Amino acid sequence: MAKLLYSATMSLDGHIAGPGGDMSWLAEHLGDPNPTAERLLPRVGAILAGNVTYGGGDPNEGTDEEGAFGGQYHGPTFVLTHRPPADPPADVAFLGDLATAVAAAKTAAGDRYVNVLGANVAAQCIDAGLLDEVLVFLAPVLLGDGTRLFDRPGGARVRLEPIDDEYPHWYRVAR
Ligand SMILES: NC(=O)c1ccc[n+]([C@@H]2O[C@H](COP(=O)([O-])OP(=O)(O)OC[C@H]3O[C@@H](n4cnc5c(N)ncnc54)[C@H](OP(=O)(O)O)[C@@H]3O)[C@@H](O)[C@H]2O)c1
Repeated sequence: MAKLLYSATMSLDGHIAGPGGDMSWLAEHLGDPNPTAERLLPRVGAILAGNVTYGGGDPNEGTDEEGAFGGQYHGPTFVLTHRPPADPPADVAFLGDLATAVAAAKTAAGDRYVNVLGANVAAQCIDAGLLDEVLVFLAPVLLGDGTRLFDRPGGARVRLEPIDDEYPHWYRVAR
């Protein structure tokens, strides 16, 4: 059964995007190679992204590294949106409901991860009890403002348990 994993590169002050969705800071912090990302990629069977992330600033835009995992991910992608495009790309499904999108992504992922991309969608997943794991890559930069890793005003406390000593910011959501 597929698990839902939210992964992101986060600034030390807790943001995954700068003001206005700015992602220009990310490229210099991606790390090449990034051993954790390289370990994760073969274990990802589907991506579930919010529409802001899908349409957002890719630090590698216009290069052959554009797209998830520096352009190395080529599997199914599910995008949550209330505004599906009239002419969607062949390998991307646009869905308008969280439960339907999670179910479809899990089916597509098989026994691998559904990699959740986007803080808004990740917060909904955690509040709905659907998120299994969180993996954070820390970037040594302060963005000051922007999109926070988790923004859940009034949200319930969620306990996280470390999964692997080798990867200090890879956690299981305690249930
Ligand atoms: N640092 C990193 O590693 C990293 C990784 C990924 C993304 N990012 C950046 O982080 C930011 C993430 O943005 P975000 O968290 O504000 O947004 P997001 O989660 O990427 O997308 C939110 C959007 O998804 C759609 N949506 C969400 N839930 C839905 C639902 N239940 N039903 C239907 N549609 C739904 C809505 O779009 P519609 O208006 O179309 O309905 C909503 O505005 C972006 O700037 C992205 O570039 C950073």
